[in-house]
Amino acid sequence: MPQIERPRRSALYLPASNAKALAKARTLPADVIILDLEDAVAPGSKIEARRAAVAATQEGGFGTREVAIRANGIDTPWGMDDLVAIASSGAAAVLVPKVSCVDDIARYEEVLEQAPAEMQLWAMIETCACIPHLHEIAAMARTSRLSLFVMGVNDLAKEMRAKLTPERTPFLPFLSMTVAAARAHGITVLDGVCNEFRDAGVFRQEAEQGLLFGFDGKTLIHPDQIAVCNEVFSPSVEEIEWARAVIDAFALPENSGKGAIRVNGKMVELLHQEQARRLLTFAELTSPSDI
Ligand code: COA
Ligand code: MG
Repeated sequence: MPQIERPRRSALYLPASNAKALAKARTLPADVIILDLEDAVAPGSKIEARRAAVAATQEGGFGTREVAIRANGIDTPWGMDDLVAIASSGAAAVLVPKVSCVDDIARYEEVLEQAPAEMQLWAMIETCACIPHLHEIAAMARTSRLSLFVMGVNDLAKEMRAKLTPERTPFLPFLSMTVAAARAHGITVLDGVCNEFRDAGVFRQEAEQGLLFGFDGKTLIHPDQIAVCNEVFSPSVEEIEWARAVIDAFALPENSGKGAIRVNGKMVELLHQEQARRLLTFAELTSPSDI
């Protein structure tokens, strides 16, 4: 059964140039904090944002939250300096934007050669060019630091010239393809952001859609989105009851050696027992006292 490393239900972005948000992030119940140097930071603030992100990471105070820093692209004026600074920052991960092919991952991997072995490489899935290469890119997890994909729906919408509505109809195939590629190669996959942070109803609907599609969690832009996101991506009471019922049923002597049985009027197979075990392990990791 796959190991669940840690919950990544909620991953909150914040511009690293925003000192107030940086301080607040240390108190918020997000599983992951992403200090952004890229899209959320204007060109005039890039160098200050890099300095602030590295200083905050080295200072710590984030508790059990996993801290990632999103670098500017390697071919931008700031990319190389960002990567060098992040490599020695102590961040858990560097998130890199606009990955389009296997070579992009290889280039980031090379620049991060001197970074601590435990530093992970996370990749934004947000270009049209990467879509036909998702499996090859995900397969790089075997030979590099790559361990996680993040959907970047705003950039994808911009490139496609598609409309980003709450239903996300134009993007649904890409959400499925990204989850499938990630799963095929054992990497974590986080859904994109919901820009409508003042509308809790729209946010919940979108988070539930992400869960339905198989994402491990969702990236967020505002503190108000965290609680709903954690709730949506945590097992519900009903799911926990179902998981316990499946495990108990397979443990009954009369079901020993059977591949398919009946639980609460529905067919359950051994694969559901695996799902049930995974769900209970995850439920233990995400009990309310987790942060
Ligand atoms: N992380 C941490 N704290 C945040 C935050 C974030 N992403 N967004 C807002 N806050 C804080 C504010 O600093 C403020 O703190 P205070 O209560 O101590 O004053 C509080 O939450 C309320 O903020 P609010 O006034 O509702 O938001 P805003 O209008 O100032 O900012 C955004 C709205 C969208 C500009 C802001 O939320 C933001 O920058 N989000 C992240 C954008 C980003 O990183 N994008 C890149 C990936 S798409
Ligand atoms: Mg982007």
